[in-house]
Amino acid sequence: MVTTTTPGPVLIPQLQCESDVGIDTIPLTSEVSFGSWQRDIPDAYHQLGSEELVTRVRAARAALGDRVVVLGHHYQREDIIQFADERGDSFMLAQYAAERPESEFIVFCGVHFMAEAADILSAPHQQVVLPNMEAGCSMADMAAPGDVRAAWRELEDLFGSGDDIIPVTYMNSAASLKAFCGEHGGVVCTSSNAVEVLEWAFTQGKRVFFFPDQHLGRNTGHAMGVPLEEMTLWNWRLPAGNLGGATPEDLERSRIILWQGHCSVHQRFSTTQIDTAREQYPDAKIVVHPECRYEVVEAADAVGSTAYIAHYVAEAPAGSVIGVGTEINLVSRLAKEHPDKTVFCLDPVVCPCSTMYRVHPAYLAWVMESLAEGRVVNRLVVPEEEQANARIALERMLALRRAGA
Ligand code: 13P
Ligand code: SF4
Repeated sequence: MVTTTTPGPVLIPQLQCESDVGIDTIPLTSEVSFGSWQRDIPDAYHQLGSEELVTRVRAARAALGDRVVVLGHHYQREDIIQFADERGDSFMLAQYAAERPESEFIVFCGVHFMAEAADILSAPHQQVVLPNMEAGCSMADMAAPGDVRAAWRELEDLFGSGDDIIPVTYMNSAASLKAFCGEHGGVVCTSSNAVEVLEWAFTQGKRVFFFPDQHLGRNTGHAMGVPLEEMTLWNWRLPAGNLGGATPEDLERSRIILWQGHCSVHQRFSTTQIDTAREQYPDAKIVVHPECRYEVVEAADAVGSTAYIAHYVAEAPAGSVIGVGTEINLVSRLAKEHPDKTVFCLDPVVCPCSTMYRVHPAYLAWVMESLAEGRVVNRLVVPEEEQANARIALERMLALRRAGA
């Protein structure tokens, strides 16, 4: 069997994660979670091994030529990222989809909300394909559009329906929430531009309603000088009518109202892990993603998006020791790409993002071979009624970057 990942120099035994040594491609039916993945992939793909999958994806790619572009998020597995024409963080991939109308098909190797953004931003003649429709995001799922709208009504009752409060949604959210923001004078942000987006939002209104990631919201607010006591959590699990567990006074005082969502991968990182890494390697630099908890970000040397983390590692001098707080596929790749540095994951038992992992090469082979045969499977289409407003919110974000570039 061909192993598509190579062990990287992730060499701190007590900090090492099982999956740091690489994730082999195994047939779809041997994947323990296949039962909960998209099931209507034809049987012919179920038993294919690594070598055959690689050969078949390559052949389909060659047959399609420039008609297709494959985009890959940094958290994709090695056996997928090897086929990506462009890889990046969620902002870069959205920008790519918005600015490259040449390809008829955009095969998006990432998760559902990213492919939705690509569909909204791409040209009308382009079709976006998500290899496994069950590749979602547990954080995005924590903000059900109905719950957000109900919370908004409560906030409007409290503050009035003027321009007092600006909704800001993290890219990791459903298209309908992006549309909600577009409709209500709000905007989308990603982990790479949250400060500039919130700065803009505060020019539009007195306070921000930020969803779904409380950690990105809090870390960004803090970086901008908003005191912690002016950021209030909104507990969406409480029944409507409870102001998300806050008091009217808490909310009146707040500049940022934070939806109580989180990423289950990033919430695992802790200051204890950072302490352990620094004990082991006093000169270690620690870089983490802003979806980590506040105290973890405070204890780190640097914080930023997946692209920022990749850049940070690339720019570090040879011999550097770098502990990273983000998803394991990216950390393992960085370790492998920089053998002159020691790059390790802070969490000794971190698992891959289980939804990113669902983009198994069998799904990529299926969608690519179908395209080569003239059939589009797994096309992702954002409903017409959400397109226009979601595009407004996404383009506001892109325009900020253009203005600040
Ligand atoms: P980036 O925008 O930094 O790529 O992050 C996306 C994500 O889902 C992190 O968990
Ligand atoms: Fe969602 Fe977390 Fe996976 Fe990112 S790492 S896609 S936030 S579940």
